[in-house]
Amino acid sequence: MSQKILDKLDKIEDEAQSVIQEVKNLDDLEKQRIENLGRKSELVKILRSIKDVDPDKRDDIGKKANYVKNKLEETIQTQRKKLVELKLEKEIDEDWIDVTVPPKKLNIGHLHPITQMQQLTENIFTRMGFDIEYPYEIDSEFHNFDAVNIPKNHPARDMWDTFWIEGDNVAITHTSSMQHRIIKSKETPIRTIIPGKCFRNEATDARHEHTFYQVEGIYVDRGITMNNMLGTLKAFFDEFFGQNTNILFTPDFFPFVEPGGMVSIDCSNLSEGFKKVSKGTGWLEVLGCGMIHPKVLEMAGKDPEVYSGFAWGVGLERLIMLKYDIDDIRLFHSGDLRFIRQF
Ligand code: DAH
Repeated sequence: MSQKILDKLDKIEDEAQSVIQEVKNLDDLEKQRIENLGRKSELVKILRSIKDVDPDKRDDIGKKANYVKNKLEETIQTQRKKLVELKLEKEIDEDWIDVTVPPKKLNIGHLHPITQMQQLTENIFTRMGFDIEYPYEIDSEFHNFDAVNIPKNHPARDMWDTFWIEGDNVAITHTSSMQHRIIKSKETPIRTIIPGKCFRNEATDARHEHTFYQVEGIYVDRGITMNNMLGTLKAFFDEFFGQNTNILFTPDFFPFVEPGGMVSIDCSNLSEGFKKVSKGTGWLEVLGCGMIHPKVLEMAGKDPEVYSGFAWGVGLERLIMLKYDIDDIRLFHSGDLRFIRQF
């Protein structure tokens, strides 16, 4: 009887050993563990029945049964380690990334040339002590016209052909639309620039757009003169173009300044194209300016007997065209990437 049990234990061990070592995955291994070492397994049955065996044989059978149990547990453990490693290797194989593959070329964008040049302009004037305000793109007729001394039915209104919007509002024709608010609300000295988008109801050509950018500037304090204006503007142009820029002031009419004028820049250093645009004179008009009209100061609550100031308005695209030798203003809003990518 006891020899039979010992033989049976040998058989259990031999069979289980070979099966377990052949198992291909962890699920099957677990099945084998239950079959060979689980509560209902032959081995456990034998272990449980040891108490019924003859006392003098009990020791041998007990030792042998425990030996088989330990052996099988050991084999299962070894096999489990092997299978876990294989599984890991397979996963690593499948998730493998070739870090030597050259990267896909990303098309990273950049700021539009108008934004770049607006930022340059803001930077230059901020360093001169100016602050920055942005206009409302839609504003009241009052702020766009009346408050800068262009009353209703006055012929000067013809200088600005407008898009009208319900409720006496307009798409602003110039960033002078902010003058009144700024002069009224700020304490002197007032030094503010107003870069922003403007709109005109006009036929477009190489030099005119219905949508364009202006930078308005205002300086109000006691004792401000035309000298201050010309000095400020020249300092700006020198920085903007990165070279000494000669300027020329010629009288002109704008309802919100008195005297008013145009500033031209010396384009003899610029390209042939611009010399042609300057009609051979060598001077190119770029900016309207003047001493702020007493009525404009008065309407905004600053006594023109005490305060004076200057203002200007410059078309940003015009300056960029000069700086980069661009011959058609319509390129800026064309969305043509061949143009944009050059900046
Ligand atoms: N607002 C004028 C325009 O759009 C430009 C301008 C001219 C602004 C003279 C000024 C100025 O402040 O003094 O044509």
